[in-house]
Amino acid sequence: MNNNINFKELANKYQTPYYVYDFDYITKQYQELKEAFKARKSLISYAVKANSNLSVVKHLGDQGAGADCVSIGEVKRALKVGIPKYKIIFSGVGKTDDEIKQALEFDILMINVESEAELGRVELMAKELNKVARISIRVNPNVNPKTHPYISTGLHENKFGVDIDTSKRMYIKAKQSKNLEPIGIHCHIGSQLTHLEPIKEAINIVADLVRNLKSALKIELKFFDVGGGLGIVYNNEVLIDTNEYAQTVLEALFGIDITVICEPGRFIVGNSGIFVTKVLYEKVNGTKRFVIVDGAMNDLLRPSLYDAYHKIEVVGKSENNCDCNVVGPVCESGDFFAKNIELPMTQHNDLIAIYSAGAYGFTMASNYNTRGKVTEIAIEDGDDRMIRRREIFEDLIANEEEYIK
Ligand code: LLP
Repeated sequence: MNNNINFKELANKYQTPYYVYDFDYITKQYQELKEAFKARKSLISYAVKANSNLSVVKHLGDQGAGADCVSIGEVKRALKVGIPKYKIIFSGVGKTDDEIKQALEFDILMINVESEAELGRVELMAKELNKVARISIRVNPNVNPKTHPYISTGLHENKFGVDIDTSKRMYIKAKQSKNLEPIGIHCHIGSQLTHLEPIKEAINIVADLVRNLKSALKIELKFFDVGGGLGIVYNNEVLIDTNEYAQTVLEALFGIDITVICEPGRFIVGNSGIFVTKVLYEKVNGTKRFVIVDGAMNDLLRPSLYDAYHKIEVVGKSENNCDCNVVGPVCESGDFFAKNIELPMTQHNDLIAIYSAGAYGFTMASNYNTRGKVTEIAIEDGDDRMIRRREIFEDLIANEEEYIK
């Protein structure tokens, strides 16, 4: 992350709250992962859900990244900024018929199927369109990823993917169908992963399945999608080494001629972004000190939803720390960015920087309390530019106004 960002200058120019992203950091993260897999043919398909701003997606597309999408909206974002269709994957447990049809019409690389029932719909939609649907199957290896329960996805108790036996039935069905072509296999066990062991276990299970499909069923897959999930430093996490990670994947695939796909989101953009908000007031209720800022849970939901830690600093101040909660104006006690942290005493208009906000920050924002979504800014080669303008009241009522009786 760029430590030279002048938060005050940006606040004067764009007002607050805002998100700022360091595009050079995004490039660096992308290159690091791409480089780690250089021993094989690989595709880094950026998980658009982490930060779907068109300029962010384009920036990654320009480096050669593909896109991992979980709605047709995300697919359209990727196509809109020029990511080639043959680098786009469409995943998700609940695709609608309409989304499946559109994905087939766009002719993207593959649809990642997550149930037998969905496979049936994909086949039917492909038949109706007189097409052959390229598919992969998301395997749920029943491995505990040791992360927050809300972002664990690789256990049978999670809704994602199918068990090994089901996947085999699905591959057989796909092989026999005139309208399906099984080309890939996929597994993603969770997000913000900081342990390599569960990833290794999962990948080995899926690699064995690939060998088995080839020898027993004569099904040869072209793509092995290891999912995303690499963790980042929010606080003092010890991370998985990128090269060790890639090495683990490549070792598991020894002897299999297959292209590796990796779908990182947070790893690429998480620490590129900072959410900047300004102090409105301080107050003390009894003995509890509150720092009330102009940003809120609707702008950055992670602390409220996951009790997630984000490092917070008062810009330009580091002394006279004392305990406080940093809270927003939304009418919920769950509207906080941090509880019981030490911060310097602040004044009206002091800026507060909330770090590691580049992933699942803006994309999880809402208009709750009729608050407009904030400005997004890119910093690239030392220059700043707006990549999304602040929403105004008229934006928020645009889809309702004409229906007032
Ligand atoms: N691939 C699949 C199939 C996924 O489900 C996800 C994330 C990714 C890739 C990207 O994972 P990443 O590399 O970013 O860890 N809102 C939560 C995170 C939800 C992640 C959902 N799936 C948060 O703020 O922590």
